[in-house]
Amino acid sequence: DWNMPDYITEAVEKIRAQVGTDEVILGLSGGVDSSVAAALIHRAIGDQLTCVFVDHGLLRLNEGEMVMDMFAKNLGVKVIRVDATDQFMGKLAGVTDPEQKRKIIGAEFVEVFNAESAKLTNAKWLAQGTIYPDVIESAGKGKKGQTIKSHHNVGGLPEHMKLKLLEPLRELFKDEVRKLGVALGLPYEMVYRHPFPGPGLGVRILGEVKKEYADLLRRADAIFIEELRNTAYEGVVVPGFDQDAAPRNWYEATSQAFAVFLPVKSVGVMGDGRTYDYVVALRAVQTQDFMTAHWAHLPHELLGRVSNRIINEVRGLNRVVYDISGKPPATIEWE
Ligand code: XMP
Repeated sequence: DWNMPDYITEAVEKIRAQVGTDEVILGLSGGVDSSVAAALIHRAIGDQLTCVFVDHGLLRLNEGEMVMDMFAKNLGVKVIRVDATDQFMGKLAGVTDPEQKRKIIGAEFVEVFNAESAKLTNAKWLAQGTIYPDVIESAGKGKKGQTIKSHHNVGGLPEHMKLKLLEPLRELFKDEVRKLGVALGLPYEMVYRHPFPGPGLGVRILGEVKKEYADLLRRADAIFIEELRNTAYEGVVVPGFDQDAAPRNWYEATSQAFAVFLPVKSVGVMGDGRTYDYVVALRAVQTQDFMTAHWAHLPHELLGRVSNRIINEVRGLNRVVYDISGKPPATIEWE
């Protein structure tokens, strides 16, 4: 039980004492942990912090712009945005195996991040949003989860850079990181977002990843999320549900929700014509620990509205299905 303003004051002093007048680099992913770390470090040392934001082209709709607005525009944080979409798409061309895709995206990420970091020759520190559960987890290892943290391979940087690690969230649990983020002025909606995997849409496009598929998926996913947020939740709170407050809408009543692109074409009708277009699956789950999960019993009207909107608004998609598989035996992601 700790007092937030006091905690921030203490954390800020600790960071200042640690880095002095040195320059710090941080890899911003758009995720909660790296965002909160960035906000905290910026509070402590301002312009001594430079963030590198690698856009792999597999982010959600407008996510890159949102990150830049939030940090560069609103908070005045120095952020270098690297648009590496073509580079990632090139490396992923022809690759269909999920684990292979993860490896490529992870390796490419390190490559791009290091290349950009190497230009910041004055930097002495690499900051990461490592939180307490990551510390425990990396002691155990062996999970397929490859988060932003494992991307930041200090070993890949030039010898003379030898960065020291700055991990100001190391002692915090996720819920504490979120509270800290809100206290530092990050938007509530951002801080309480569903988890998003490091490989992004790369594991939500089944099989080969193409920019065309990612563009269709992004739009379908955004419609789904918007409707979940805009639909009031009136049910009972799911026992053991991982949320402080009672959910107000279906986004808050689910632990993770997203669209998945299926590279399968099916026949449809539109006006007088026939369509032959791709399918998206909607996935929404409720879970406490993400090790097991139930599919969310979303209201049929909500599902119908999402389906209509996707098919009407996203040319190239003509069929929407809902995933009713639990975990186990299915996983949350489709790959
Ligand atoms: P599964 O699909 O294994 O997912 O039931 C459990 C949780 O882990 C997330 N996930 C990942 N996160 N890199 C990540 O950072 C990954 O490669 C990855 N694969 C799955 C998934 O989104 C869910 O929250």
